[in-house]
Amino acid sequence: MSAELAVEATGLVKHFKDVKAVDGVDLRVPAGSVYGVLGPNGAGKTTAVRMLATLLRPDAGTARVLGHDIVDDADDVRFNVGLTGQFASVDEDLTGAENVTLLARMYGFSGSEARRRASALLAAFELSDAADKPVKSYSGGMRRRIDLAASLVMSPKVLFLDEPTTGLDPRSRNQVWDIVRLLVAEGTTVLLTTQYLEEADQLADRIAVIDHGKVIAEGTAPQLKSSVGTGSVHLRVADARQREDAAAVIERVIGDEVTRPNDPYALAARVPQGMEEQVAHLLPRLHEAGIAVPEFSLGQPSLDEVFLALTGKMPEPEDPENEDWDEEQTEQHTEEEAR
Ligand SMILES: Nc1ncnc2c1ncn2[C@@H]1O[C@H](COP(=O)(O)OP(=O)(O)OP(=O)(O)O)[C@@H](O)[C@H]1O
Ligand SMILES: [Mg+2]
Repeated sequence: MSAELAVEATGLVKHFKDVKAVDGVDLRVPAGSVYGVLGPNGAGKTTAVRMLATLLRPDAGTARVLGHDIVDDADDVRFNVGLTGQFASVDEDLTGAENVTLLARMYGFSGSEARRRASALLAAFELSDAADKPVKSYSGGMRRRIDLAASLVMSPKVLFLDEPTTGLDPRSRNQVWDIVRLLVAEGTTVLLTTQYLEEADQLADRIAVIDHGKVIAEGTAPQLKSSVGTGSVHLRVADARQREDAAAVIERVIGDEVTRPNDPYALAARVPQGMEEQVAHLLPRLHEAGIAVPEFSLGQPSLDEVFLALTGKMPEPEDPENEDWDEEQTEQHTEEEAR
């Protein structure tokens, strides 16, 4: 265990029946940084984070959080860690203020201290006006902010954020990003899962890409992106029968392989280093070839494209068969509550 690592995981494994949710994951998260775990639906992100936060026991492998073993020293880990995300813990029927006050009481604040702490946190997250409304009436963005407020009652040294911005509008997403940046400036280490390359790019110092329970790439955002070219072109043709003609034009102009998403009208292509100028010639060439292109955009490589580059295939959609959430999800919760 190196002193500078806030999280060090080696060979973590978790099965659910015959699903290998996490299949030998190693992670090394430097203290004081933001670490992004990037992957599609069902990649194993939540399962990995829940093991690190001591909510699930690994089937194999070991991990330390701030030097504490997640199995042998689980209480020390819990004392130092905050968790928020997909399956975290605010009570929908209670108001925002009641939720945060209750948590502060559970952590040992007196009644009046707990109320003070709650109103300070709610103010910091611009939730003062909604403090006395039940959480179930909150918008998605407010919901994420109350989750964050709740996870910060104890100023954790390490904060796990499980998809903190999935489904949020751009403004709310930016608010959450600002909060994360503030926390890191104050010395918190943040491990965040996301499905968005852009989020990892904006926030994370280093990123692990996971798929099917395995880390398939690790590095800084620029390192990952340079593995998929400098940008990408996305377009849709008006007539699906012209898709192959359009693909041929793109290959001629920017000279890289074209990918064909499931949408029969769509095409995407990476822009290789040094070919950025050529992109400007694409639309006129397509027009000359008599191909109508109602949608055209040039952007950063998407997570799909990082995946394509890393794995040679598009990410598979989540298998709905595996959706049977069962008691295992809460096994240690219940253990904990029983104490
Ligand atoms: N409690 C459980 N019981 C059964 N299967 C589970 C359970 N938790 C997760 N799984 C399965 O394990 C795999 C990994 O799930 P996990 O929730 O860790 O993925 P994820 O990367 O967080 O996905 P998402 O982006 O959709 O949140 C999936 O196939 C999922 O269906
Ligand atoms: Mg998840």
